[in-house]
Amino acid sequence: MFVCSCFGVTEEQVKEHAEAGACTPRQIASACKAGTDCGGCVKRIQALLGRGACPRRRLIDQGGPALAELPEAA
Ligand code: FES
Repeated sequence: MFVCSCFGVTEEQVKEHAEAGACTPRQIASACKAGTDCGGCVKRIQALLGRGACPRRRLIDQGGPALAELPEAA
């Protein structure tokens, strides 16, 4: 499903960028341009990031260092 129709960016792509460390809509925009044209998708991107798409965000929320090694996926 497309999150950003201006640039044809899918929900899956946003999640991949989030897993690679893009924790904010701005970082997602740097990674794939999503949100940099009409801006209509920014809320959807925020919602995706807010749903735990970014594992590093959880570390930050817990007060941990953002660039710490992520625990291995079980
Ligand atoms: S839908 Fe993403 S910038 Fe327009």
